[in-house]
Amino acid sequence: MSKLSVHIETFGCQMNVSDSEQVATKLREHGFELADADASADVILLNTCSIREKAEQKVFRRVNEIKRGRAGRQPLVGVLGCVAQLEGESIFNSSPSVQLVAGTGAADRIPSLLDRVRGGESRVIDLGGREEGADFEISPAVRHSKHVAFVPIIEGCNKFCTYCIVPYSRGRERSRTAFEIVEDVEKLRADGFKEVQLIGQNVNSYRPRVEKGLEGFSGATPFSRLLRAVASTGMTRVKFTTSFPRDFHADIVKAIEEYENLCNWVHLPVQSGNNRILRAMRRGHKVEEYLERVAAVKNSRREISLTSDIIVGFPGETDEEFEDTLRLAEKCEFHGLYIFKYSERRGTPAARLKDDVTKDEKTRRFLSLENLQMAIQSKVYKDYVGRMVEVLAEGFSARSDSDLKGHTTCNKVVNFAASPEFIGKVVRVRVTEAKAHSLFGQLL
Ligand code: SAH
Ligand code: SF4
Ligand code: F3S
Repeated sequence: MSKLSVHIETFGCQMNVSDSEQVATKLREHGFELADADASADVILLNTCSIREKAEQKVFRRVNEIKRGRAGRQPLVGVLGCVAQLEGESIFNSSPSVQLVAGTGAADRIPSLLDRVRGGESRVIDLGGREEGADFEISPAVRHSKHVAFVPIIEGCNKFCTYCIVPYSRGRERSRTAFEIVEDVEKLRADGFKEVQLIGQNVNSYRPRVEKGLEGFSGATPFSRLLRAVASTGMTRVKFTTSFPRDFHADIVKAIEEYENLCNWVHLPVQSGNNRILRAMRRGHKVEEYLERVAAVKNSRREISLTSDIIVGFPGETDEEFEDTLRLAEKCEFHGLYIFKYSERRGTPAARLKDDVTKDEKTRRFLSLENLQMAIQSKVYKDYVGRMVEVLAEGFSARSDSDLKGHTTCNKVVNFAASPEFIGKVVRVRVTEAKAHSLFGQLL
């Protein structure tokens, strides 16, 4: 059979980006070609996200678009990832042009599943888990960046926050051994990568079945031991996301203080500033406990930047309860905040509650929190003007070919004028201007 070209489109979180990289690696190994554009690809794979209704709808819109966009022979369309895992067979009925449905554990098997479709099977489905001992190998050639790499350390989630679909789409927590993770990071370092981001829905719950690779590293939790082990590889920069407040141990801050290459950024989603809502969300932490974690981060001798996620309009959230969230945001002075309007997900415990905050009211709360955050952020960002920051130059800036773009260790985007030879290097930049979500500066 001739070589088929495959175009992969990725929606959702870093875990999906990483899964797409694994799928791409496997496809290349099996003689498929990867296509950058969808226009002429023989196969289009959509790696999907189900976190909010809008994310899910995107997929079905995209399937229709692909179908209408081709005059001649239709490409083979496959739906992978979280929507596939949750919707399964029903995708074939709602989108008859889809020929393959493969869930969140099927990355390894995509080549053979595609072979079955080519062999004449019309509706191929695989919702099985990742095989025991399956490798997470990713070819450097298919990584989303040549300089920054995502390294999964834990998959799935056991938290069951009442609004969230992830425990259903990704299943129970499974941690990789530190030995494998450290091996990945060492390879990445040898391949010239400057930054790794250890990823998981909830990295603080990292708990491998065997401690292989953690021997000799101290720390209050397996995760903080892992941080020390990974930092000891000498990788230039190590970031990690997402942290779960209840399990965020102060030893993580200690590890950051001990190792310069552990970056000074913590993403710690709070979701609400009101204890009744937090309980209804089953987050397992109170406002007071969250503020203790925040204090541990802010009192560090490293200047650690803190970002968060908040959901507005959870079922039953009153005006006063929402105002508690505003007050919390004011206190925490996040360096970045992702705000989401509550979206009901079928099958979650919160879906049994009445989604009684109107659409307009959710929008009002969203804008009010966004306004407050923009005011806080403007102050935070302006404070950087005149300061020197270290930036990993990751590529050209979106606006201009004579500017480069990268991130600070505190995860802020910085644009600066410099020639392309600096791409892939950590450079020093003097900040000259603050925008709403980025900084501008001069190369030193
Ligand atoms: N594991 C991470 C984040 C998972 S999803 C954590 O525990 O924080 C990323 C963000 O999407 C969440 O932090 C939450 O703010 C938001 N989110 C998840 N489910 C949602 C829902 N049903 N409606 C609106 N926002 C949601
Ligand atoms: Fe969802 Fe909560 Fe798990 Fe995060 S910790 S993925 S919000 S269930
Ligand atoms: Fe979305 Fe699945 Fe990630 S639902 S946020 S792609 S785990």
